[in-house]
Amino acid sequence: MSDWIDVAAVDDFAPNTCHVVTTDETSILVFNLDGRYYAIENRCTHESAELVDGALEGDEIVCPLHGARFSIVTGAVLAPPAYENLNTFPIRVSNGWVEVDAEAEWDIA
Ligand code: FES
Repeated sequence: MSDWIDVAAVDDFAPNTCHVVTTDETSILVFNLDGRYYAIENRCTHESAELVDGALEGDEIVCPLHGARFSIVTGAVLAPPAYENLNTFPIRVSNGWVEVDAEAEWDIA
């Protein structure tokens, strides 16, 4: 079942920025990378730090706590001390809004 949630208007979502969407069950980090949108879980798989506070480096996010690195595109872990991938979420653009499906999780593990 889908649960599409508005993230931001396309016109208000600047390239190479992110927005956080919080539901009862999860916190999702949504990125605009040069006009392509991606959504990953906002929780490091090492010790649960919020990735929104991490450094954006190209299409990768670096955890602010111990430096694990993840692909924003696939959720794949790229550098320790984390060893588990992040969940990713479907994204769409509808009526000028970027939306994320918070119910669906894609686990690439
Ligand atoms: S909590 Fe993210 S690397 Fe440790």
